[in-house]
Amino acid sequence: MPIPMSSPDITAAEIAAVNQVLQTSYLSIGPQIVAFEQAMAQYVGLPHAVGVNSGTSGLHLCCIAADARDGDLVITTPFSFIASANSILYERAIPVFVDVDPATGNIDPTLVAEAAADLKRGGAAAARWLPRRHGPIGALKAIMPVHAFGQPADMDPINAVAAEYGLRVIEDACEAIGSTYKGQMAGTLGDAAVFAFYPNKQMTTGEGGMIVTRPDDWAALFRSLRNQGRDVFDAWLNHTRLGYNYRLDELSAALGVAQLHRIEELIARRAQVAAWYHEQLADLELVERPQLSPHTTRMSWFVYVVRILPPADRNTVMQRLAAAGIPSRPYFTPIHLQPFYRDLFGYERGDFPVTEQLGERSLALPFSSVMQEEQVAEVAGCLRMALHA
Ligand SMILES: Cc1ncc(COP(=O)(O)O)c(C=O)c1O
Repeated sequence: MPIPMSSPDITAAEIAAVNQVLQTSYLSIGPQIVAFEQAMAQYVGLPHAVGVNSGTSGLHLCCIAADARDGDLVITTPFSFIASANSILYERAIPVFVDVDPATGNIDPTLVAEAAADLKRGGAAAARWLPRRHGPIGALKAIMPVHAFGQPADMDPINAVAAEYGLRVIEDACEAIGSTYKGQMAGTLGDAAVFAFYPNKQMTTGEGGMIVTRPDDWAALFRSLRNQGRDVFDAWLNHTRLGYNYRLDELSAALGVAQLHRIEELIARRAQVAAWYHEQLADLELVERPQLSPHTTRMSWFVYVVRILPPADRNTVMQRLAAAGIPSRPYFTPIHLQPFYRDLFGYERGDFPVTEQLGERSLALPFSSVMQEEQVAEVAGCLRMALHA
């Protein structure tokens, strides 16, 4: 059996839950979304959870709530999955990238503070942080940290910057369900946060996402926006604002309820697989294993990403692994170097050197909660050969 890059962890309980929904007349807007939201709100310890059909759509709605629109600025990281920055572009706001901490790959809070101060000052100070090409500039509205690979960004100094300049904080917690920062759940550290449930995530709904937040008015806004701008979830004809169809269907929500029921087990299994990798890769000098910050009081592993150090070359290693039947991925590829971002904003190689170096060295290895110790050993063995071939 080939080792897959990732794999969902589905038991009879999940299959039964989805089957049960199929025997009802509620395939969307029914009791499962309500149950999933209640369970999620309770799990993270916040008053509101709003289910949406992807992490990306959740982030988009958070940008709307943060009032980030035409030309407004949102400070974020270029070392992420492209959806975090794209969600800012959907509202024609401008993602202002700052570089990341080389140890964790998370947004560097010192740079966030410098950028916010300069952007508020305006003029030449602000220009230093802006892309080479841009249209008219609005106001600095928000910060969007991303908890890369599941590890929480350093949120205290980021929240201090937000408080100083009156900015909203949107946590991209798409990869981080169940992680804690200084003992507090990822997703509870900003004004709103988004979890994502694509099948490679710690828990899955097929496609799906969840926004979590404290303020009642934000929760009401999210419920309206995801449902075509209706002012009440099931008031069919009254549309108060421009909305979207970002609803999470009942089959996905039922799957979500069953997976959330098992979340501690799923996170623990992934931690075990990460521990096997950590042990198996210990003596590989050209492999740097993931580093956890002391602030990460619990790591919920989304992916297991190593760095391939020179003189070894990551792409060559990846090709050799593929030839041995082991899938692996460069993860992340820097957002500012994606063709679309280069064209739109004029970014060039060299703009964010830490991100670029991580982008060149990072390699995600096969990882899931159903992975067995022998499979980890096989990947580690092939990696050893790929490095020394
Ligand atoms: C950091 C990050 N942000 C956003 C997303 C978007 O989530 P989705 O794929 O559910 O739209 C993902 C998921 O892949 C992600 O990893």
